[in-house]
Amino acid sequence: MFFTESNSLGRILVLCFSLTISLSSRGNTISANNFLSGNRTIISERDEFELGFFKAGNSSNYYIGIWYKRAASNPPTIVWVANRETPISDRFRSELKIIDGNLVLLNESKFQIWSTNVSTTLKSSVAVLLDDGNLVLGDSTSNSIEPVWQSFDHPTHTWLPGAKLAYNNRTKKSQFLTSWKSKEDPGVGLFSLELHPSSNMYVCKWNGSQQYWTSGAWNGKIFELVPEMRLNYIYNFSYHMNENETYFTYSLYNSSLVSRFIMDVSGQLQQQMWSESTAEWAMFWSKPKEVCDIYGLCGAFGTCRPTEFPLCNCLTGFKPRSESDWNQTDFSGGCVRKTDLQCGRNTEKQDFLMIRVKNLPPNNSVAVGSAGECHTTCLNDCFCNAYSLVDNQCSVWDGDLLNLEDNDSGKIIFVKVAYKDLPLSSKDPLHHKKSISVTMGAVVGFGGVVVFVLGVILFLIFRKKRISVGKTRMVGSLVSFVYKDLQIATKNFSNKLGGGGFGSVFKGVLHDSSIVAVKKLESISQGEKQFRSEVSTIGTIQHVNLVRLRGFCAQGNNKLLVYDYMANGSLDTHLFHGKQVLNWETRYQIALGIARGLVYLHEKCRDCIIHCDIKPENILLDAEFCPKIADFGLAKLVGRDFSRVLTTIRGTRGYLAPEWLSGVAVTTKADVFSYGMMLFELVNGKRNAEQSEDSRSPFFPCLVSNVLKVGGDILSLVDSRLNREASVEEVSKICKVACWCIQDEEDRRPSMSSVEQILEGVMDVNMPPIPRTVTLFVDNTERIVFFTESPSKGSSEVYSNCSPQSTSSSS
Ligand SMILES: *[C@@H]1O[C@H](CO)[C@@H](O)[C@H](O)[C@H]1NC(C)=O
Ligand SMILES: *[C@@H]1O[C@H](CO)[C@@H](O)[C@H](O)[C@H]1NC(C)=O
Ligand SMILES: *[C@@H]1O[C@H](CO)[C@@H](O)[C@H](O)[C@H]1NC(C)=O
Ligand SMILES: *[C@@H]1O[C@H](CO)[C@@H](O)[C@H](O)[C@H]1NC(C)=O
Ligand SMILES: *[C@@H]1O[C@H](CO)[C@@H](O)[C@H](O)[C@H]1NC(C)=O
Ligand SMILES: *[C@@H]1O[C@H](CO)[C@@H](O)[C@H](O)[C@H]1NC(C)=O
Ligand SMILES: *[C@@H]1O[C@H](CO)[C@@H](O)[C@H](O)[C@H]1NC(C)=O
Ligand SMILES: *[C@@H]1O[C@H](CO)[C@@H](O)[C@H](O)[C@H]1NC(C)=O
Ligand SMILES: *[C@@H]1O[C@H](CO)[C@@H](O)[C@H](O)[C@H]1NC(C)=O
Ligand SMILES: *[C@@H]1O[C@H](CO)[C@@H](O)[C@H](O)[C@H]1NC(C)=O
Ligand SMILES: *[C@@H]1O[C@H](CO)[C@@H](O)[C@H](O)[C@H]1NC(C)=O
Ligand SMILES: *[C@@H]1O[C@H](CO)[C@@H](O)[C@H](O)[C@H]1NC(C)=O
Repeated sequence: MFFTESNSLGRILVLCFSLTISLSSRGNTISANNFLSGNRTIISERDEFELGFFKAGNSSNYYIGIWYKRAASNPPTIVWVANRETPISDRFRSELKIIDGNLVLLNESKFQIWSTNVSTTLKSSVAVLLDDGNLVLGDSTSNSIEPVWQSFDHPTHTWLPGAKLAYNNRTKKSQFLTSWKSKEDPGVGLFSLELHPSSNMYVCKWNGSQQYWTSGAWNGKIFELVPEMRLNYIYNFSYHMNENETYFTYSLYNSSLVSRFIMDVSGQLQQQMWSESTAEWAMFWSKPKEVCDIYGLCGAFGTCRPTEFPLCNCLTGFKPRSESDWNQTDFSGGCVRKTDLQCGRNTEKQDFLMIRVKNLPPNNSVAVGSAGECHTTCLNDCFCNAYSLVDNQCSVWDGDLLNLEDNDSGKIIFVKVAYKDLPLSSKDPLHHKKSISVTMGAVVGFGGVVVFVLGVILFLIFRKKRISVGKTRMVGSLVSFVYKDLQIATKNFSNKLGGGGFGSVFKGVLHDSSIVAVKKLESISQGEKQFRSEVSTIGTIQHVNLVRLRGFCAQGNNKLLVYDYMANGSLDTHLFHGKQVLNWETRYQIALGIARGLVYLHEKCRDCIIHCDIKPENILLDAEFCPKIADFGLAKLVGRDFSRVLTTIRGTRGYLAPEWLSGVAVTTKADVFSYGMMLFELVNGKRNAEQSEDSRSPFFPCLVSNVLKVGGDILSLVDSRLNREASVEEVSKICKVACWCIQDEEDRRPSMSSVEQILEGVMDVNMPPIPRTVTLFVDNTERIVFFTESPSKGSSEVYSNCSPQSTSSSS
C-alpha cells in the first residue's frame, strides 16, 4: 500500500520536471555569454548526455559531438556529430557559441565552419542539451523552450528514443541515418537508412541508390519483413502520418533502459542495449543478419567471409586501394590490381583467377559464345574484368566486381589478373582439370553410396538373424534377456552411467554390438508375472521422443530394463555441468521434443501415463541431440500409490507440483508443472533450486515473470554462455509457456498438447499471470516448502524480493 502511493507521487514529480526545462542551471546550456572551447563541455540535467569536442580513435581531428555520460564507455559512445565533414585540429582555439541567434562552430582562425543555419528573430537564443540527447536551440526568455532547431531533426548515425525518422511531405526530403566513413572518421559514409515515403517502409541504401535491405511495409503493428517485432516488450514503436510528414518514432517501455539504433560503419543496422553490469553495449537486433549481404561492404574486388577476421580480403593479385582505410576496417574503397593490365597489349601476360562465390556479382552483360570463346572474348576486351559460364551462357563484367562472398561450393567466376600475380596452382584458366576431378569424385561417390547401402542391408539381415538365434527370446516387441547375458554385456555392471530414483544404470554392449543402457531396478516387490505384464505395457509405448525399451530381465529378485543407449547422455550434464553448451536452436528443439513425448504419454497411449518425475536427469539426448524421455511408466511399476513415488524421488528438488504435498490425486498437470520448471532451466542454464538458495538473487521463475510483465530485456534471461544469441520471440514464448505451466491451480496450467502447439507456432500464448506460488525453496533437510502469498513474515520478504521494482524511487 505504502509503495503504491510513493510511486504515484514520484511519477507526478517526474512529470512536472520534464515539462519545464530548468534554465537556471547553466551546466546544460550554451548562451550568449557561455561558449564551449577546449575541454569544456555541457552536461544534461540528469547527467545522461554530454556535449563537447571529441576525437575519434587515433586521428588528430576534433569534432563537436554528443555522447552518453551516464552510460560511460571508453571511448565514449557518440550519438551525434555537428561538423561531420569539417573537423578542426586545435580545440582550444576553436569555439562553439551563439552568434546572431544561431549556434555556430568557429575554427582556429575564427572562421565559421558549421552553423545551425536558421533564420531567426530570437532576441536571446540558448542551446540546451536535454536528457534524451537532444540539443535544442530556442528562446531563453520563455520558461519552456520552443525549438527553432534541434539535433533530433538532423540525425547522424544514431537514432535515439524519442527522435523521429521522417519524410517531410512539404520539402519532399527524408531524414536519414548515415554511417560513419570509418571508425575514426565520422564523415558521411556510404550506408544509409531512410524512409521510403510511398510505401511506408524503411530501406538501407548503399551510396544513396543501391538498396540492400528493406523492412517491408508497416502494417499498423509491425514491419512485414521484421516479424520479430511482434514479440517485442521493450520498444514502443509508432508510426505517424499527416499532410506535412510521415514518421516513425520509438520509446522504451522501461525508460531506465538505455538503448540506441545505429547505422554501423559496416552498413549493418543495429539495435544495441547498454548493459550496466558489464559497461558494454550488447547487440539486441541487427539487419541484414548476414553482414556479407551488405551491398558493397568489401568494395570492388574484395571478398567477404562472414566468419573471419578481417571480414574482407582482396582477391589474389589485388591489394587494398587504401591500406590505412583497410586497416581501420573501412573496406568500402575496395581493391585494385597489384599490376595494372595494359589495355589492348600483352594479353599473353594476363590470365584468369578462378574463384567460387555465393552469388555472381551484379551488372554483368551477356555475351555469346562457348567456354573457350567466352574466355577469349574477355581476354581480348581490355575493359572486361571477369567472365563466367552458367548453363553454357557467357556473362562478362566490364565494371567493378562487387559483393563477392567466398563460398567453396558456390558459383564459379573467372577474374582477369596479371599473370605474374597468380599463384602457381591456379594458373590454368580453363577448368578442364577441375571438372574432370569433380566427375571422378561423383563417380567414386556414387559407387561408395551403392557399396554402403548394400552393406547396410547385409548388416540389417545379419543383425536380425543374430537376435533371433540368440539365447534371449522375444516377448511381444521386447527381448527377454537372461541375467547372465546382461552381466556379460555390462562387464558385470562396471560402467555406471548414472543413478536415478529407481535404480542405477549401466552401459552395456550386446552380441550384435549395439550399445544399450541397462537399468537395475531397486525395491521392486512385484511378482515376476505382474512385472512382465507391466513391462510389456511399457514396451508398447514407442515414440521418437521417448527412450525405447528394448527388453527386460526378470529372474527372481533381479529386475532389469534394457534401453537404447543415448550417445549424448542426459540433459542436466549439458545444462549444468558444462559438458557442451547447447545453442538456442537446440534448446528450443529439446523443449518441443519433450513436449511431444509428454503429449504422447498423456494423451496418445491407451492408458494415460503420468511420468511423475520430469527433470533434466530424465531427459536423454541421442547423437543428434533429439530429446528422449526416460523412466516413463516406472512410477506405475513401483506402486500405485504415489506417496511411495514421492519418497522414491525425494532427491528431486525443485520440480514437484504443489499438489504433491496437498494429498489430492495427482494428474497429468503435475508433469506440466515439472516441465515448466525445466523450461526455466533450459533457458537459464542453471538450476532453479540452486538460484533460490542464494537469497540475494531472485528466484529465476519470478524474475522471468517480472521481466515479461514490465517488458524488460528478454535476452538477459538467457544462459549467459550463449552471449544473447537466441531468438527473442522464442525465448519470450518459452518463458511465457513456462510461467503458465507453473501456475498453482492445475486448471490454469495448459495441457501438454497446448504447449506443443504453442511451441510449434500453431497457437499463440497470452501474457501469463505471475504464478501465485511465488517461490519454492528447499531447505537443508530437503523438505520442500512452498511460499505463497500468506502473510507470514518470512514469506512476504521473499515476495517483495520478487515483485517488480519501483522505478521512480530515485527521483
Ligand atoms: C582542461 O584544459 C586545461 C587547460 O589546458 C587544463 O589545465 C585542464 O587540466 C584540462 N582539464 C581536463 C579535465 O582535461
Ligand atoms: C591507437 O594507437 C595506439 C598506440 O599507437 C594503438 O595501440 C591503438 O590500437 C590505436 N587505436 C586504433 C583505433 O587504431
Ligand atoms: C578555418 O576554415 C577556413 C575555411 O574552411 C580555412 O580556410 C582556414 O584555413 C581554417 N583555419 C585553420 C586554422 O584551419
Ligand atoms: C549553412 O548554410 C550554408 C550556406 O547557405 C551552407 O554552406 C552550410 O552547409 C549550411 N550548414 C548547415 C549545417 O546546414
Ligand atoms: C557513389 O555515387 C557517386 C555518384 O552518385 C559516384 O560518383 C561515386 O563514385 C560512388 N561511390 C562509390 C564508392 O562507388
Ligand atoms: C507508445 O507510444 C505511443 C506514441 O508515442 C503512446 O501514445 C503510447 O502511450 C505508448 N505506449 C506505452 C505503453 O507506453
Ligand atoms: C503530401 O502532399 C501532397 C501535396 O503536396 C498531398 O497531395 C498529399 O496528400 C500529402 N500526403 C499525405 C500523406 O498527406
Ligand atoms: C502542417 O503544417 C502547417 C503549416 O506549417 C500547419 O499549419 C499544420 O498545422 C500542420 N499540420 C499538422 C497535422 O501538423
Ligand atoms: C596496415 O596493417 C598492416 C599489418 O597490420 C601493416 O603492416 C601496415 O603497415 C598497415 N598500413 C597502414 C597504412 O596503416
Ligand atoms: C549497376 O547498375 C545499376 C543500374 O544499372 C547502377 O545504378 C549501378 O551504379 C551499377 N553499379 C556499378 C558498380 O556499376
Ligand atoms: C556455401 O553456401 C551454402 C549454401 O548457400 C551454405 O550452406 C554453405 O555453408 C556455404 N559455405 C561456406 C563455406 O560459406
Ligand atoms: C527498468 O530497467 C532497470 C535497469 O535494467 C531495472 O533496474 C528496473 O527494474 C526496470 N524497471 C522495471 C519497472 O522493471
